[in-house]
Amino acid sequence: MEVRAFLWRGDHLLLLDQRRLPEEEVWLELRDHLQVAEAIKGMAVRGAPAIGCVAAYGYLLGVRSGQDPKEVRRVLERTRPTAYNLFYALDRMEKALLEGRDLEEEARSIEREDYEANVRMGEFGNTLVPQKAKILTHCNTGALATAGWGTALGVVRTAKRSGKEIHVWVDETRPYLQGARLTAWELLKEGIPHTLITDSTAGFLMRRGEVDLILVGADRITARGDVANKIGTYSLSVLAKVHGVPFYVVAPSSTFDLSIRSGEEIPIEERSEEELKTCGGKRIAPEGTPAYHIAFDVTPAENITAIITEKGIISPVTEENVRKCLS
Ligand code: MRU
Repeated sequence: MEVRAFLWRGDHLLLLDQRRLPEEEVWLELRDHLQVAEAIKGMAVRGAPAIGCVAAYGYLLGVRSGQDPKEVRRVLERTRPTAYNLFYALDRMEKALLEGRDLEEEARSIEREDYEANVRMGEFGNTLVPQKAKILTHCNTGALATAGWGTALGVVRTAKRSGKEIHVWVDETRPYLQGARLTAWELLKEGIPHTLITDSTAGFLMRRGEVDLILVGADRITARGDVANKIGTYSLSVLAKVHGVPFYVVAPSSTFDLSIRSGEEIPIEERSEEELKTCGGKRIAPEGTPAYHIAFDVTPAENITAIITEKGIISPVTEENVRKCLS
Protein backbone atom coordinates (compact mmCIF):
# COMPACT_ATOMS: atom_id res chain seq x y z
CA MET A 1 0.00 0.00 0.00
CA GLU A 2 1.09 3.56 -0.72
CA VAL A 3 2.83 5.31 2.17
CA ARG A 4 0.82 8.15 3.75
CA ALA A 5 1.92 10.54 6.50
CA PHE A 6 -1.61 11.58 7.48
CA LEU A 7 -5.25 10.72 6.77
CA TRP A 8 -8.14 13.14 7.19
CA ARG A 9 -11.17 11.39 8.70
CA GLY A 10 -13.82 14.12 8.54
CA ASP A 11 -13.69 15.08 12.22
CA HIS A 12 -10.12 14.17 13.16
CA LEU A 13 -6.69 13.68 11.67
CA LEU A 14 -4.74 10.43 11.76
CA LEU A 15 -1.02 10.98 11.79
CA LEU A 16 1.69 8.37 11.32
CA ASP A 17 4.10 9.12 14.19
CA GLN A 18 7.40 9.45 12.30
CA ARG A 19 9.37 9.51 15.56
CA ARG A 20 8.58 5.81 15.98
CA LEU A 21 9.70 4.76 12.50
CA PRO A 22 11.20 2.46 11.34
CA GLU A 23 10.56 0.27 14.38
CA GLU A 24 6.78 0.60 14.54
CA GLU A 25 3.88 2.15 12.68
CA VAL A 26 1.85 4.05 15.28
CA TRP A 27 -1.02 6.33 14.25
CA LEU A 28 -1.92 9.33 16.42
CA GLU A 29 -5.51 10.60 16.56
CA LEU A 30 -5.53 14.41 16.59
CA ARG A 31 -8.75 16.19 17.46
CA ASP A 32 -7.81 19.84 17.95
CA HIS A 33 -5.36 22.44 16.67
CA LEU A 34 -3.26 22.28 19.85
CA GLN A 35 -2.57 18.60 19.29
CA VAL A 36 -1.73 19.32 15.65
CA ALA A 37 0.68 22.10 16.64
CA GLU A 38 2.35 19.83 19.18
CA ALA A 39 2.73 17.06 16.58
CA ILE A 40 4.40 19.47 14.12
CA LYS A 41 6.74 21.00 16.68
CA GLY A 42 7.59 17.58 18.12
CA MET A 43 8.37 16.13 14.65
CA ALA A 44 5.65 13.46 14.66
CA VAL A 45 5.06 14.89 11.19
CA ARG A 46 7.76 16.73 9.27
CA GLY A 47 8.73 17.78 5.76
CA ALA A 48 7.53 21.19 4.58
CA PRO A 49 4.62 20.08 2.33
CA ALA A 50 3.27 17.59 4.90
CA ILE A 51 3.53 20.26 7.60
CA GLY A 52 1.49 22.62 5.40
CA CYS A 53 -1.26 20.06 4.74
CA VAL A 54 -1.50 19.01 8.38
CA ALA A 55 -1.57 22.65 9.55
CA ALA A 56 -4.51 23.29 7.19
CA TYR A 57 -6.47 20.50 8.89
CA GLY A 58 -5.35 21.85 12.28
CA TYR A 59 -6.74 25.26 11.34
CA LEU A 60 -10.00 23.63 10.30
CA LEU A 61 -10.27 21.73 13.61
CA GLY A 62 -9.56 24.86 15.65
CA VAL A 63 -11.94 27.21 13.83
CA ARG A 64 -14.66 24.57 13.63
CA SER A 65 -14.59 24.16 17.42
CA GLY A 66 -15.25 27.88 17.88
CA GLN A 67 -11.72 29.06 18.68
CA ASP A 68 -10.59 32.53 17.60
CA PRO A 69 -9.14 32.03 14.08
CA LYS A 70 -6.30 34.48 14.75
CA GLU A 71 -5.27 32.56 17.85
CA VAL A 72 -5.51 29.24 15.99
CA ARG A 73 -3.18 30.58 13.32
CA ARG A 74 -0.78 31.98 15.90
CA VAL A 75 -0.46 28.60 17.64
CA LEU A 76 0.11 26.72 14.40
CA GLU A 77 2.57 29.12 12.82
CA ARG A 78 4.83 29.18 15.86
CA THR A 79 5.81 25.54 15.30
CA ARG A 80 8.39 25.38 12.45
CA PRO A 81 9.52 28.81 11.20
CA THR A 82 11.51 27.78 8.09
CA ALA A 83 8.92 25.58 6.34
CA TYR A 84 7.19 28.01 3.98
CA ASN A 85 4.38 25.57 3.12
CA LEU A 86 3.10 26.10 6.66
CA PHE A 87 2.51 29.80 6.01
CA TYR A 88 1.25 29.14 2.49
CA ALA A 89 -1.40 26.73 3.83
CA LEU A 90 -2.46 29.02 6.69
CA ASP A 91 -2.77 31.98 4.29
CA ARG A 92 -5.04 29.93 2.07
CA MET A 93 -7.19 28.77 4.99
CA GLU A 94 -7.48 32.33 6.32
CA LYS A 95 -8.47 33.61 2.89
CA ALA A 96 -11.10 30.87 2.51
CA LEU A 97 -12.55 31.84 5.91
CA LEU A 98 -12.66 35.53 4.97
CA GLU A 99 -14.38 34.74 1.69
CA GLY A 100 -16.91 32.47 3.41
CA ARG A 101 -15.72 29.36 1.57
CA ASP A 102 -15.84 25.84 2.99
CA LEU A 103 -12.72 25.27 5.12
CA GLU A 104 -12.77 21.50 4.85
CA GLU A 105 -12.92 21.78 1.08
CA GLU A 106 -9.94 24.16 1.12
CA ALA A 107 -7.82 21.86 3.31
CA ARG A 108 -8.66 18.92 1.06
CA SER A 109 -7.66 21.00 -1.99
CA ILE A 110 -4.30 21.88 -0.44
CA GLU A 111 -3.67 18.17 0.13
CA ARG A 112 -4.85 17.12 -3.33
CA GLU A 113 -2.84 19.83 -5.08
CA ASP A 114 0.30 18.83 -3.23
CA TYR A 115 -0.11 15.20 -4.28
CA GLU A 116 -0.69 16.21 -7.90
CA ALA A 117 2.30 18.57 -7.84
CA ASN A 118 4.51 15.72 -6.65
CA VAL A 119 3.41 13.43 -9.45
CA ARG A 120 4.06 16.20 -11.97
CA MET A 121 7.52 16.95 -10.50
CA GLY A 122 8.29 13.26 -10.73
CA GLU A 123 7.62 13.40 -14.47
CA PHE A 124 9.62 16.61 -15.04
CA GLY A 125 12.47 15.41 -12.85
CA ASN A 126 12.63 12.03 -14.56
CA THR A 127 13.62 13.76 -17.82
CA LEU A 128 16.90 14.70 -16.07
CA VAL A 129 17.69 11.21 -14.76
CA PRO A 130 19.89 9.02 -16.98
CA GLN A 131 18.84 5.44 -17.84
CA LYS A 132 21.32 4.17 -15.26
CA ALA A 133 21.88 6.50 -12.31
CA LYS A 134 23.52 6.63 -8.91
CA ILE A 135 21.51 9.27 -7.06
CA LEU A 136 22.44 10.84 -3.73
CA THR A 137 19.71 12.29 -1.51
CA HIS A 138 19.56 14.02 1.85
CA CYS A 139 16.92 13.98 4.59
CA ASN A 140 13.48 12.57 3.72
CA THR A 141 11.51 14.04 0.86
CA GLY A 142 9.23 11.10 0.17
CA ALA A 143 5.58 10.31 0.73
CA LEU A 144 6.20 10.84 4.45
CA ALA A 145 7.21 14.47 3.88
CA THR A 146 4.31 15.37 1.57
CA ALA A 147 0.69 14.55 0.78
CA GLY A 148 2.10 11.47 -0.96
CA TRP A 149 4.62 10.36 -3.64
CA GLY A 150 7.31 12.86 -2.62
CA THR A 151 9.42 15.63 -4.13
CA ALA A 152 13.08 14.56 -4.61
CA LEU A 153 12.19 11.01 -3.63
CA GLY A 154 9.16 11.28 -5.90
CA VAL A 155 11.54 11.78 -8.83
CA VAL A 156 13.41 8.65 -7.72
CA ARG A 157 10.09 6.75 -7.58
CA THR A 158 9.04 7.90 -11.04
CA ALA A 159 12.46 7.10 -12.50
CA LYS A 160 12.42 3.61 -11.02
CA ARG A 161 8.86 2.91 -12.16
CA SER A 162 9.75 4.07 -15.68
CA GLY A 163 12.23 1.21 -15.84
CA LYS A 164 15.46 3.05 -15.09
CA GLU A 165 18.29 1.37 -13.24
CA ILE A 166 18.49 3.39 -10.04
CA HIS A 167 20.67 3.17 -6.99
CA VAL A 168 20.22 5.67 -4.15
CA TRP A 169 22.89 6.80 -1.69
CA VAL A 170 20.95 7.74 1.45
CA ASP A 171 22.57 10.34 3.70
CA GLU A 172 21.72 9.36 7.27
CA THR A 173 21.01 13.07 8.02
CA ARG A 174 22.23 13.86 11.50
CA PRO A 175 20.90 14.57 14.04
CA TYR A 176 17.32 13.54 13.40
CA LEU A 177 18.25 10.71 11.01
CA GLN A 178 15.44 11.31 8.54
CA GLY A 179 17.57 9.54 5.90
CA ALA A 180 18.42 6.47 7.96
CA ARG A 181 15.01 6.09 9.58
CA LEU A 182 12.56 7.37 6.97
CA THR A 183 14.07 7.47 3.47
CA ALA A 184 15.59 4.00 3.88
CA TRP A 185 12.21 2.76 5.17
CA GLU A 186 10.36 4.18 2.14
CA LEU A 187 12.92 2.88 -0.37
CA LEU A 188 12.89 -0.56 1.19
CA LYS A 189 9.07 -0.70 1.05
CA GLU A 190 9.21 0.32 -2.62
CA GLY A 191 11.99 -2.13 -3.52
CA ILE A 192 14.35 0.59 -4.74
CA PRO A 193 18.05 -0.37 -4.38
CA HIS A 194 19.78 1.91 -1.89
CA THR A 195 22.71 2.15 0.50
CA LEU A 196 22.92 4.14 3.72
CA ILE A 197 25.96 6.38 4.24
CA THR A 198 27.07 8.81 6.93
CA ASP A 199 26.65 12.43 5.87
CA SER A 200 30.41 12.85 5.71
CA THR A 201 30.80 10.01 3.17
CA ALA A 202 29.13 11.98 0.35
CA GLY A 203 32.17 14.04 -0.70
CA PHE A 204 34.49 11.09 -1.15
CA LEU A 205 31.87 9.17 -3.12
CA MET A 206 31.63 12.14 -5.49
CA ARG A 207 35.41 12.21 -5.84
CA ARG A 208 35.37 8.52 -6.77
CA GLY A 209 32.73 9.17 -9.45
CA GLU A 210 30.08 7.21 -7.56
CA VAL A 211 27.40 9.91 -7.71
CA ASP A 212 25.70 10.86 -11.00
CA LEU A 213 23.31 13.43 -9.57
CA ILE A 214 21.98 14.83 -6.31
CA LEU A 215 18.28 15.31 -5.59
CA VAL A 216 17.12 17.25 -2.53
CA GLY A 217 13.93 18.97 -1.38
CA ALA A 218 13.38 22.46 0.00
CA ASP A 219 11.76 24.16 2.96
CA ARG A 220 11.72 27.64 1.51
CA ILE A 221 12.91 29.11 -1.80
CA THR A 222 13.38 32.84 -2.34
CA ALA A 223 12.66 34.89 -5.47
CA ARG A 224 16.29 34.65 -6.61
CA GLY A 225 16.31 30.89 -6.08
CA ASP A 226 18.21 30.55 -2.82
CA VAL A 227 17.07 27.37 -1.09
CA ALA A 228 16.66 26.60 2.61
CA ASN A 229 16.76 22.87 3.24
CA LYS A 230 17.91 20.36 5.84
CA ILE A 231 21.24 21.20 7.43
CA GLY A 232 23.98 19.66 5.31
CA THR A 233 22.40 20.57 1.98
CA TYR A 234 24.69 23.56 1.48
CA SER A 235 27.81 21.41 2.03
CA LEU A 236 26.52 18.92 -0.53
CA SER A 237 26.01 21.72 -3.07
CA VAL A 238 29.61 22.90 -2.64
CA LEU A 239 30.91 19.36 -3.02
CA ALA A 240 28.74 18.87 -6.10
CA LYS A 241 30.14 22.03 -7.66
CA VAL A 242 33.74 20.97 -7.01
CA HIS A 243 33.16 17.52 -8.49
CA GLY A 244 30.92 18.57 -11.39
CA VAL A 245 27.90 16.63 -10.12
CA PRO A 246 24.45 18.04 -11.12
CA PHE A 247 22.64 19.37 -8.06
CA TYR A 248 18.85 19.44 -8.35
CA VAL A 249 16.25 20.84 -5.94
CA VAL A 250 12.72 19.45 -6.24
CA ALA A 251 9.93 21.54 -4.70
CA PRO A 252 6.35 22.60 -5.42
CA SER A 253 5.42 26.25 -6.07
CA SER A 254 3.92 26.33 -2.53
CA THR A 255 7.50 26.28 -1.15
CA PHE A 256 8.44 29.54 -2.90
CA ASP A 257 8.39 32.69 -0.80
CA LEU A 258 8.50 35.41 -3.42
CA SER A 259 8.23 38.13 -0.77
CA ILE A 260 11.97 37.79 -0.12
CA ARG A 261 14.87 37.88 -2.56
CA SER A 262 17.85 36.60 -0.64
CA GLY A 263 18.41 33.45 1.38
CA GLU A 264 19.77 35.60 4.18
CA GLU A 265 16.21 36.70 4.89
CA ILE A 266 14.98 33.15 5.55
CA PRO A 267 14.28 32.45 9.24
CA ILE A 268 16.37 29.47 10.28
CA GLU A 269 14.89 27.16 12.87
CA GLU A 270 17.04 26.43 15.89
CA ARG A 271 16.19 23.28 17.81
CA SER A 272 17.18 21.92 21.19
CA GLU A 273 20.76 21.03 22.12
CA GLU A 274 19.47 17.74 23.49
CA GLU A 275 18.50 16.51 20.02
CA LEU A 276 22.16 16.86 19.07
CA LYS A 277 23.66 15.48 22.24
CA THR A 278 21.57 12.31 22.21
CA CYS A 279 21.00 9.64 19.60
CA GLY A 280 18.08 7.22 19.84
CA GLY A 281 17.53 8.40 23.40
CA LYS A 282 21.15 7.66 24.39
CA ARG A 283 23.53 10.41 25.49
CA ILE A 284 26.46 10.80 23.07
CA ALA A 285 28.02 14.05 24.35
CA PRO A 286 28.74 15.33 27.86
CA GLU A 287 25.72 17.04 29.37
CA GLY A 288 27.76 20.17 30.07
CA THR A 289 28.98 20.62 26.46
CA PRO A 290 27.16 23.39 24.62
CA ALA A 291 25.76 22.42 21.21
CA TYR A 292 24.50 24.47 18.27
CA HIS A 293 21.59 22.84 16.50
CA ILE A 294 20.24 24.65 13.48
CA ALA A 295 17.84 22.51 11.50
CA PHE A 296 18.39 24.14 8.09
CA ASP A 297 20.99 25.88 5.94
CA VAL A 298 20.73 27.96 2.78
CA THR A 299 22.15 26.96 -0.59
CA PRO A 300 22.71 29.92 -2.90
CA ALA A 301 21.11 29.79 -6.35
CA GLU A 302 24.58 29.74 -7.97
CA ASN A 303 25.20 26.23 -6.59
CA ILE A 304 21.97 24.77 -7.99
CA THR A 305 21.86 23.20 -11.46
CA ALA A 306 18.06 23.36 -11.66
CA ILE A 307 14.94 23.61 -9.53
CA ILE A 308 12.21 21.18 -10.53
CA THR A 309 8.68 22.41 -9.82
CA GLU A 310 5.24 21.19 -10.92
CA LYS A 311 5.13 24.12 -13.34
CA GLY A 312 8.40 23.30 -15.04
CA ILE A 313 12.16 23.20 -14.62
CA ILE A 314 14.00 26.38 -13.62
CA SER A 315 17.51 26.47 -15.10
CA PRO A 316 19.68 28.44 -14.83
CA VAL A 317 18.38 29.47 -11.44
CA THR A 318 17.87 33.24 -11.67
CA GLU A 319 15.20 35.57 -10.33
CA GLU A 320 13.91 36.14 -13.85
CA ASN A 321 13.52 32.41 -14.48
CA VAL A 322 11.95 31.78 -11.07
CA ARG A 323 9.31 34.46 -11.64
CA LYS A 324 8.70 33.35 -15.23
CA CYS A 325 8.18 29.73 -14.23
CA LEU A 326 5.85 30.47 -11.35
CA SER A 327 3.73 33.12 -13.02
O1 MRU B 1 13.20 18.90 9.71
P1 MRU B 1 12.43 18.26 8.61
O2 MRU B 1 12.50 16.76 8.63
O3 MRU B 1 11.01 18.78 8.54
O4 MRU B 1 13.17 18.73 7.29
C1 MRU B 1 12.70 18.27 6.04
C2 MRU B 1 13.49 18.76 4.89
O5 MRU B 1 14.48 19.45 5.04
C3 MRU B 1 12.99 18.40 3.53
O6 MRU B 1 14.03 18.32 2.62
C4 MRU B 1 12.00 19.49 3.05
O7 MRU B 1 11.06 19.80 4.04
C5 MRU B 1 11.31 19.08 1.82
S1 MRU B 1 10.31 17.65 2.07
C6 MRU B 1 9.50 17.31 0.64
